[in-house]
Amino acid sequence: MLMVSAGDPIVVMMSHPAKILMVDDNSMVLFAMGHLLRSEGFTVLEAKDGAECLVQARAEQPDLVLLDVMLPDINGVELCRKIKTSPETSHLFVVLLSSIETSPDSQITGLEAGADGYITRPIENRELVARVQAMLRIRLAETALRKAHDDLERRVAGRTEELSRANGALKALSLRMVDVQEAERRFLARELHDEIGQTVTCLKLVLEISLRPENPAQQQSFDEALGLINDLIERVRQLSINLRPQMLDDLGLMTALDWHLKRYQKQTGIAVQFRHTPMPERLEPGLETAIFRIVQEALTNVARHARVKEVTVRVWANAGRAGVQIEEAGAGFDVASVLARRASSGVAGMKERAELLGGEFTLESTPGHGTCLTVELPISENESTSVEAGGGI
Ligand SMILES: Nc1ncnc2c1ncn2[C@@H]1O[C@H](COP(=O)(O)OP(=O)(O)OP(=O)(O)O)[C@@H](O)[C@H]1O
Ligand SMILES: [Mg+2]
Repeated sequence: MLMVSAGDPIVVMMSHPAKILMVDDNSMVLFAMGHLLRSEGFTVLEAKDGAECLVQARAEQPDLVLLDVMLPDINGVELCRKIKTSPETSHLFVVLLSSIETSPDSQITGLEAGADGYITRPIENRELVARVQAMLRIRLAETALRKAHDDLERRVAGRTEELSRANGALKALSLRMVDVQEAERRFLARELHDEIGQTVTCLKLVLEISLRPENPAQQQSFDEALGLINDLIERVRQLSINLRPQMLDDLGLMTALDWHLKRYQKQTGIAVQFRHTPMPERLEPGLETAIFRIVQEALTNVARHARVKEVTVRVWANAGRAGVQIEEAGAGFDVASVLARRASSGVAGMKERAELLGGEFTLESTPGHGTCLTVELPISENESTSVEAGGGI
């Protein structure tokens, strides 16, 4: 940025000699002032009336316009307003020149019309040059400031774009992580079910076929062994289902939810009211997984924290969105402080899942009055065509 100090001759500070457009209908004034300013090293352009001034101002883009207030074709103040309102010339620096007899009001109207300065004549040559230099210093500082401002805006725009690109990449990465996590769960669930589960089942069959207990003591040990194997089979089965129920992939969300809610009722003793609109046979796999996982986590929270005997689960789909709501009238909690704590992984995980899929997550809760969690997710175009408009729940 160029530094401006009061004593420096302005012509040296500019990369080119400062260009001044003088506008005056008096050729004597033009000659005398032009001579003075040229001798100071400025480039001087001349115009005798308003029309000529506008043409030169547009074409030459002078650093300073010295404008006589009294012109034959247009009032100087009006001309100043024209210069300042035209996009091609609005940035030009305009100084009005008037004689001492001009009313003080005209100075005010001149400045109101956008003039950047006012010089009253008669004026000493030295003072005129000093004033012109001062005006040019202001102009130079203003230009440097505008340039710095524009640079800053450009840099902010650049950074904002970078940030939004980084955000996009981060979102894609999070989505990928969710996918990878689900794929890993799916793989482990299958391995447990197909490999370990089958092997233990085979072991049980082999034992049953090959071992013949010969006395009550042996029979008791044999029964105990079978009991342990049965436990193991059941544990492997449950572990596999908990990781990812096969039926979510094979039979879809509604079947998996139905099964999960029944199992939840049995395990927790909490009655589940399940309401849903007519649903499409299948939703996009990511959407089905998200809804299933959200119901799972929300219901686990109900069992762990809400102290209730009943909970309602609603699921719906319409042309553009699929939604799920888990509502109960239990203990409730202060949502803001839980979200602020950032220690919670369940609530934060549900919110992140919903937002990653472009959905909305709403959690309402009042201590002592229960909790209602609602998630709505967009259904992609080709899917929504197969979804009938949902009825009431
Ligand atoms: N339905 C609910 N009723 C009452 N309190 C709830 C309910 N759901 C959540 N909370 C409160 O919000 C907190 C945060 O829940 P969140 O699921 O994030 O974590 P958590 O259940 O404590 O642990 P985890 O990370 O294993 O899920 C809970 O500790 C509980 O205080
Ligand atoms: Mg939880």
